[in-house]
Amino acid sequence: MDALTALHQRVSITKLTAPAPDKKQLNLLFMAALRAADHGNMRPWRFLVIEGSSRERLGEIFARVGKEKKPDISDAELDRFKSMPLRAPMVIVCIARCRENPKVPQIEQVLSAGAATQNLINAAFVLGFGAVWRTGDMAYDIRIRGALGLGENEVLVGFVYIGTPSVPIHLPREQNTEEFFSYWASE
Ligand SMILES: Cc1cc2nc3c(=O)[nH]c(=O)nc-3n(C[C@H](O)[C@H](O)[C@H](O)COP(=O)(O)O)c2cc1C
Repeated sequence: MDALTALHQRVSITKLTAPAPDKKQLNLLFMAALRAADHGNMRPWRFLVIEGSSRERLGEIFARVGKEKKPDISDAELDRFKSMPLRAPMVIVCIARCRENPKVPQIEQVLSAGAATQNLINAAFVLGFGAVWRTGDMAYDIRIRGALGLGENEVLVGFVYIGTPSVPIHLPREQNTEEFFSYWASE
């Protein structure tokens, strides 16, 4: 698939099954992520790959936090938390690792980590994998941040779920570019 076709046709895919990308394919995704625009060449990101039984462990942590937030949580809600990371064979936690830099404010570093995340998803699509970028309450919870080892200077940008699409992929709706793009000209 050529680059523009991939960029034009990428869609999020939520119904994902095994296999996840293998080591070689994963490295291609990582290389794409690392080519994100990056003010000051700060490399303001890191990524955690969660697969196999580590997803179950993460689901248990989600459930524990869910119960702490809402002590009368139902069994069904607890099960939903437990199964969240099992929605794909692989979850990649994308993290902005921000550092003080007088020329590069934190927001720019978070934007770079977001761009790296999008590059990762685009590359997955090129290789025929499906992916979806999710956050939700758990992404911002201090207990989840602690369990994943995030430092105070780090922002959890998203959980990227990756796997093989288990449903047919539909082309995205056509966009009206004029709605969002216009020319500005000074008088
Ligand atoms: C930072 C960020 C967080 C997101 N979090 C969620 C989420 O928690 N749940 C969800 O269903 N979609 C979430 N999305 C949106 C999906 O990733 C996806 O973009 C959306 O469903 C539109 O689908 P499309 O990518 O095929 O256009 C998030 C997107 C971004 C950029």
